[in-house]
Amino acid sequence: MIVQGKHYKTVWFESASNIVYMIDQTQLPFKFEIVELHSFEETAEAIRNMTVRGAGAIGASAAFAMAQAFIQSKKSSASDLVWEARKFIEATRPTAVNLFYATQKVFDAGIKSIDEGVEMAFAIAHEDEDFCKALGEHGNTLIKPQQRILTHCNAGWLAFVDYGSAISPIYAAHRDGKKPFVYVDETRPRGQGARLTAWELNENGVEHRIIADNAAAYYMSKGMIDMVITGADRIASNGDTANKIGTLEKAILAKEFNIPFYVAAPFSTIDFDSKSGASFNIEERSDEELLYHDGLDEQGVKRTIRMASPGSLGLNPAFDVTPHNYIKGFITNKGILAPSQIIKFE
Ligand code: MRU
Repeated sequence: MIVQGKHYKTVWFESASNIVYMIDQTQLPFKFEIVELHSFEETAEAIRNMTVRGAGAIGASAAFAMAQAFIQSKKSSASDLVWEARKFIEATRPTAVNLFYATQKVFDAGIKSIDEGVEMAFAIAHEDEDFCKALGEHGNTLIKPQQRILTHCNAGWLAFVDYGSAISPIYAAHRDGKKPFVYVDETRPRGQGARLTAWELNENGVEHRIIADNAAAYYMSKGMIDMVITGADRIASNGDTANKIGTLEKAILAKEFNIPFYVAAPFSTIDFDSKSGASFNIEERSDEELLYHDGLDEQGVKRTIRMASPGSLGLNPAFDVTPHNYIKGFITNKGILAPSQIIKFE
């Protein structure tokens, strides 16, 4: 994706120096900064603290972290270090299945030879881009000129290696001159919509407005939203979908107002081991994300302020699960699928 005239990916790896590079998403939209991570421990920490986030970007970062561990261990077998590294990386974020998909594949390849592990990590990152590009073209066929689309959280290119999931069809429609308009949910508590999706859309000249998380019903009731497209962090084989907290209420609203609700995701986000969303492990994050907020003051200095009554604690589940019956279709790299069609690919 182009940022200030230059092509970037969200995360990339130089195997010769064993360094992972990524865009620091905790600094956006105020500062565009690339960080260098010299070991699997540093890359895993970047996943945990959300320097990198979003299902596909987490998956590629985990793949590179696993490759770093093989290079660090200097052994092409399952050494103690490599086993420990896998556990360490997998403990960072429990919900996005792409992380586990990536560690498993790189581990299986790396125990044959370090080079195979490294190649597999690169293959996962390339596959992520290819899948997102393909699903963007499929999703574009659903978008009519000047349609108004609601999205939640950030499932743009920052959430993957490139292109994105929910936003990839919108970029394709924009490229084709269809002039899509995007309602961007702010996505409390961390504000991935207001900070990241809005920044991406701005950089790419896509018309949009940030709306409060509780404003969607108003716009839907006025007939001002034509379609909802969100991303996914884990999809069960029956189509139940985990995505950023707040997605479920958007899906319920969309059904009430007869608005098509689509989930865009590559096949690497499908968890065929889960028959339904009931077994998903939902990440609970620190309540500080809810009680405090940071931003820039008028002098451009980053400040953190308390947003809530001092003395109160909060609850902060990071995801919710939308039952498949609220989802009109999945926009995937293999085409547009009804929830009932997912299981056929098992
Ligand atoms: O907690 P995050 O920011 O890693 O959450 C993941 C997401 O960005 C969303 O849930 C997104 O819609 C799906 S990931 C492409």
